[in-house]
Amino acid sequence: MKTDIIGQSQDRVDGKLKVTGRAMYPGDRQEENLAHGYLLTSKVAKGSIQAMNTSVAERAPGVVAIYTPFNPLKLYYGLEPSEGASSGETVPPLQDQKIQYHGQIIGLVVADSFEQARDAARLVRTQYQAEDPVASWEKGMENAFAPESVDKEKATVKILAEGVQSIDDAIKSSPLMIDVTYTEPIYHHNPMEPHATTAVWQGDRLTIYDATQGVVGQRRDVASVLGIDEDMVRVLCPFVGGAFGCKGSMWMFSPLTAAAARALNRPVKTIVTREQMFTLVGHRPALIQQLTLGANPDGTLQAVKHDVQSTVSFTKVFVEAAAHRTSRLLYKSPNIQVSQKLVRLNVGGPTFMRAPGCAPGMFSLECAMDELAVKSGIDPVELRTKNDAQVYPGKNVPWSSKHLVECYQLGAEKFGWSKRNPNPGAVQAGDWSIGMGMASALYPAHRNRASAKVRLQADGTAQVSSATQDLGTGTWTVLAMVGAESLGLPVEKIRTDLGDSALPPAPTSGGSTTVATVTPAIQKAAESAKKKLIQVAVREKKSPFFGMKIEDVSYGEGQLVGGGKSADFGSVLNGIGRSAVEAIETAAPGEEEEKYAFHSFGAQFCEVKVNRWTGEVRLQRFTSVMDIGTVVNHKTARSQIMGGIVFGIGMALTEGTILERSGRYANANFSDYLVATNADVPFIDIHFLNKPDTIFNPIGARGIGEIGITGTPAAIANAVFNATGKRVREFPILPEKLLPAAANQPAISMSASKGPLKT
Ligand code: MOS
Repeated sequence: MKTDIIGQSQDRVDGKLKVTGRAMYPGDRQEENLAHGYLLTSKVAKGSIQAMNTSVAERAPGVVAIYTPFNPLKLYYGLEPSEGASSGETVPPLQDQKIQYHGQIIGLVVADSFEQARDAARLVRTQYQAEDPVASWEKGMENAFAPESVDKEKATVKILAEGVQSIDDAIKSSPLMIDVTYTEPIYHHNPMEPHATTAVWQGDRLTIYDATQGVVGQRRDVASVLGIDEDMVRVLCPFVGGAFGCKGSMWMFSPLTAAAARALNRPVKTIVTREQMFTLVGHRPALIQQLTLGANPDGTLQAVKHDVQSTVSFTKVFVEAAAHRTSRLLYKSPNIQVSQKLVRLNVGGPTFMRAPGCAPGMFSLECAMDELAVKSGIDPVELRTKNDAQVYPGKNVPWSSKHLVECYQLGAEKFGWSKRNPNPGAVQAGDWSIGMGMASALYPAHRNRASAKVRLQADGTAQVSSATQDLGTGTWTVLAMVGAESLGLPVEKIRTDLGDSALPPAPTSGGSTTVATVTPAIQKAAESAKKKLIQVAVREKKSPFFGMKIEDVSYGEGQLVGGGKSADFGSVLNGIGRSAVEAIETAAPGEEEEKYAFHSFGAQFCEVKVNRWTGEVRLQRFTSVMDIGTVVNHKTARSQIMGGIVFGIGMALTEGTILERSGRYANANFSDYLVATNADVPFIDIHFLNKPDTIFNPIGARGIGEIGITGTPAAIANAVFNATGKRVREFPILPEKLLPAAANQPAISMSASKGPLKT
């Protein structure tokens, strides 16, 4: 493959549409005779609904219908996960009176306008039989259980050296030991675009404009909850205003809206409110993680033990694989043991959130490594370099491509790590303590089966299409670039089409897999389209290549060449009176999967200053070096890493919900749940090693949407320690936890032993 397009900085091909407001998101749909849905949600976290009085609301202006468990729309259980379901929850709403979490859907008000539906919703009176919810670690832990599997392995994975009886023996016989427990709150995705659905029926066919990371999966799930054949459903989602995992599953308001539209015989649109976004569409679960490390005096690890407890709902099991995706494999150690337990709470279902498993797991592991660096007196970069794993622990396969040590080296050099004073609290500037910290970054690389179509058209343009999605990450642009590269055309000549379940099938865009998964199918389809073009060109009388042998004609840079003649494909197609030739191809990973491990790696460094009187933490600068294989579009790749780091700043310093004893989130809004904003974000220096991983896929790209967050929170926490000498183990690192007198009285805590599940 030529490389004059791949790796360049390409502006977004959909950029103009977005900044001019012409990009139509699912919630923007305007349909004739459109009605608006507003969700009614439970005000208690556990129990049952005894009665609902809708009579006043029904008489409110514009109200068309009110659906409740006492006036339900028929919905079905949906698919089992083994049938390929990607639903975020398995209990369809309104089918009974049971309440399992605060904010659960208990009704849908449909009216002529959004405001009328919203106002009428306030007039519905609901009587509950409330029960005491499980809303704290201590209450939930009584029934903690191990999941059947975690990331395709057992809930407890043991890798022990010969002759070692147990991981605890290995730790006990290590000269150095670190034993620390970290807690993390529930985090919420908060994409700028809320979830939204517009459902339009034509006879028994449903077209649904739905904010989703997977149009094909959404079609299957929505159809199954409605009890209809998936061939009768088309899902459209050309643009997504951020997703971060919460749009990776179907949530029940979508089929509920579609069922209302069917019953009313008119289009219905439901937009989830910002407050409802906290309960209805998933979150990252809360975690307690215990890290026990044993090491030799020179810092080489002898034992790594990582025990995770994560929260889960009563409606579906979701496993936040915080140890299996991190300590299980990141460092070389003769003894490794990871384990996972789940703790049920009366909350909505947790789900994937940017770098599931890795982001929370690395927060703890990389802080623990920093604690080991302090204890052993070994520089944190050197400690990690010493423990770099060259084979996947316990499986003894190499990575397809791994350059983590180079990330450490380049990052340290770009950041100026050698200037760091290792003594905590040693660097002061007026009211501020200055510190530097670093952490590794890690995310698995996966690719799946996908199909794509490439169409060469008589007007000299080409179309590349696949039922994949652009979450705002830049997929529109990357598909155009790979199409252009494969066809030897400029990017301007490529039209992309995606976000439509009627296109050649592709999987959900999750797990940083889209580029790795879809681009091989585009490359294959481009080759097939070229072959077809040549076949047509030698067969058709009016073609300049008529009668030549197929092998004597070749395609390059948009031109057919052969027998001393050349012509661009558009003129050949025009000449023979054909509008286009097209090819659909499918690409899937091969057996290399068995012989290698596939991961992306990185190193992240930051400098913070901490105010001695207020505990305020300010980031001064951030350096990130990533080993993610081929960088396809430098511009959008850089934006992905930057976005991940901004996400990580919030995770480290400001975000997290507080779950009250009642099971209600106390801060389910943007003024009390603080995401990082521009003022919180310093200069971010971003580098890529750009080493193609062609064992992984032909383009050599491993995906980039998630790894940026993974080392960020720990790098910040470690810098805060270096600045202040204070090790905060209850995240996030709020200012009050850094105040001199605050050591034993954290104002916001979620420790197992004290207080409510405040997160
Ligand atoms: Mo990503 S959290 O797998 O959408």
